[in-house]
Amino acid sequence: MDFSGKTVVVIGGTSGINRGIAEAFAASGAKLAVASRSQEKVDDTVAALKAAGAQEAIGAAFDVRDAEAVAAGLKGFHDAFGDFDVLVSGAAGNFPALAAEMSINAFKTVIDIDLMGTIHVMKGAYDFLRRPGASIINISAPQSYLPYEGQSHVCAAKAGVDQITRTLSMEWGLEGIRVNSVVPGFIEGTEGAKRLAPTPDAEEKFKRDVPLGRWGQPQDVANACLFLGSDLAGYISGTVLAVDGALYQRGSGRPGQMIGQMLRSMSKGSN
Ligand code: COA
Ligand code: NAP
Repeated sequence: MDFSGKTVVVIGGTSGINRGIAEAFAASGAKLAVASRSQEKVDDTVAALKAAGAQEAIGAAFDVRDAEAVAAGLKGFHDAFGDFDVLVSGAAGNFPALAAEMSINAFKTVIDIDLMGTIHVMKGAYDFLRRPGASIINISAPQSYLPYEGQSHVCAAKAGVDQITRTLSMEWGLEGIRVNSVVPGFIEGTEGAKRLAPTPDAEEKFKRDVPLGRWGQPQDVANACLFLGSDLAGYISGTVLAVDGALYQRGSGRPGQMIGQMLRSMSKGSN
C-alpha cells in the first residue's frame, strides 16, 4: 500500500488498536494527524509515527466529548495538511459494569465518548474531507451486534456508531465519501481486551471462543483499515467489517456471559 501524499487523521490514535492503525498508515508513507486527551501520549505517538516512516506527523490533545474542541482540532489539522483522505474515528471508553449497579452518569460517559464522540468527529471533519474519494472508518466493536452482560452501555453506543456509519454512507456517499465501520474482535495486549478479560483464565476462555483459535493483533485491524482507506475499496461503503477471527459466528457465546458472571461474583464477595 502506498499512501504517500495522502492525509490520514486518526482520532483516539495514541494507543492500542488505533495507534497500530496510525503506524501502519505511517509506514505506508502518509501524512498523519493524531489526537487524544493526553498531550503526553500525543507527543509520544507523533515521534513514533515519524520514526515509522510518516511523510509528516502532527497531533493535538482534545476530548471527543467536546464538539467545539474537536472541530477546532480538526481545523488545525486541515490548515496544516489540507483535505483528509482517510479519517479514522476510534476514541472509546469501556469498563465492565452491570446496568443495575452503574450510575446513569457511568452509562452516559460511554455514550458520550463512543457515540457522541463519533458524530462530533464526523461532523467536525465534514468540511475537510476530500470529495470525491475520502474514506471514513469508524472503529466499532462486537458489542454493536452481540449482547454482552456487563456491557449495556457499550452495546448501545457501538450499535449507534454502526447505524451512523450506515446512514451517512448514504447521505455522504452522494458526495463521493465512503463510510465504513471496522469491528475488531479481541485484540491481544490492548486496554479494551484487558478490561474485559482481566485474568489469564478469562483470556484463555475468550480465546477458546475464537474459531481461528487466536486473539487478533493490532496489525490485523490495521490491514483492514489500509484496505478500506485505499482505492482497492473504492466501491465499498456502508459496510460493517468484522476483523474478529469469526468470533461473531459463535454469537454472544462465552464472553457474553462471563463478564456478567465476573461482576456478580465480585459484588457477592463485597456483600
Ligand atoms: N464501573 C462502574 N462505573 C464506573 C466505572 C466502573 N468500572 N468506571 C467509571 N465509572 C463511572 C464513574 O463512577 C462516573 O460515574 P459517577 O459520576 O456517577 O460516579 C462515570 O463512570 C465517569 O467516570 P470518570 O472517571 O469521571 O470518567 P472519565 O471521563 O475520567 O473517564 C472512562 C472515562 C471511565 C471511560 C475511563 O475508563 C477512560 O478514560 N477510558 C479510556 C480508555 C478505555 O476505556 N479503553 C478501552 C477502550 S475499549
Ligand atoms: P485504548 O488503547 O484505550 O485506546 C483508546 C484511545 O482513545 C486512546 O488513544 C485514548 O487516548 C483515546 N481516548 C479515550 N477517550 C477519549 C476521549 N474522551 N477523547 C479523545 N480521545 C480519547 O483502547 P483499545 O483497546 O486499543 O481500543 C481502541 C478501539 O477499538 C476502541 O474504539 C474500542 O472500542 C475498539 N475495540 C477494541 C477491542 C479490543 O480488543 N481492545 C475490541 C473491539 C473493539 P487518551 O487516553 O489520551 O485520551
